[in-house]
Amino acid sequence: MKSTARYTIVSLLVIGLASSAKLPKTWKTCKQTDKNANECLRAAAEHAVRSMKNGNRDLGVLPLDPLHFNHLSMDGGNGPVNVQLDLKNLDMYGISTAKVQRIKADWDNYLLEGDITFGRDFVLLGDYSVKGRVLLLPVVGEGKCNLTFQNFVAHLSGVGRELIKGKNRYMEIEKLTVGIETSRFIMNLENLFNGNKALSDNMNLFINQNWQEILQELRPSISKAFGEGFRQVANQVFTRLPLDVIAPK
Ligand SMILES: *[C@@H]1O[C@H](CO)[C@@H](O)[C@H](O)[C@H]1NC(C)=O
Repeated sequence: MKSTARYTIVSLLVIGLASSAKLPKTWKTCKQTDKNANECLRAAAEHAVRSMKNGNRDLGVLPLDPLHFNHLSMDGGNGPVNVQLDLKNLDMYGISTAKVQRIKADWDNYLLEGDITFGRDFVLLGDYSVKGRVLLLPVVGEGKCNLTFQNFVAHLSGVGRELIKGKNRYMEIEKLTVGIETSRFIMNLENLFNGNKALSDNMNLFINQNWQEILQELRPSISKAFGEGFRQVANQVFTRLPLDVIAPK
């Protein structure tokens, strides 16, 4: 028991101290000069994302599916949907089923963009608290929630900067913009109105009949929250693998 514990601590230290990591064995690299560099990158990125379902020890990447968020906060604007939705202990399911449709990289200028679809519904489960108005009706409550996006599409656009560590050059993503599309957004907020089941069921029905208006209002803050979450994940890879490992010239 003792030696296992010591081994774990030592390997954690080693991971923590390593300034650059080796490319995981099954990952592919794509030469920048390749004619089909973007297609190569598309396949490589898809494989990398899928392979990180349970995290990656060598890179120090936490499990991607589910991806855990301590706190996400979403505000609906000042229009007909005016809600403050706070989500806590949130698990996001679906990332490891990513199908990367397209990627375009401009490594010299630290720009990346791409479109991703998913092989299953994109689902967020956790605790919520909500307060506000939905199309004039007051809504308030807290409990468990399920936010589901069917046929979710993410359009990513990342702007990075050069990061030099030792002899290596990395791309650190500074801003990641996420445009989202879905064929249907299903929101289930358990226990609204202090557990009044009739009121809660009615409100959930109402919310889901009006999902397009509601998503429209929540879209900017959902995009922002996803962007920040995905940016942190991407940087776990990008700040550990030098650019000439990811995309040699
Ligand atoms: C979340 O909601 C979706 C859509 O209603 C449903 O298919 C799924 O089973 C739910 N997941 C859980 C864990 O309740």
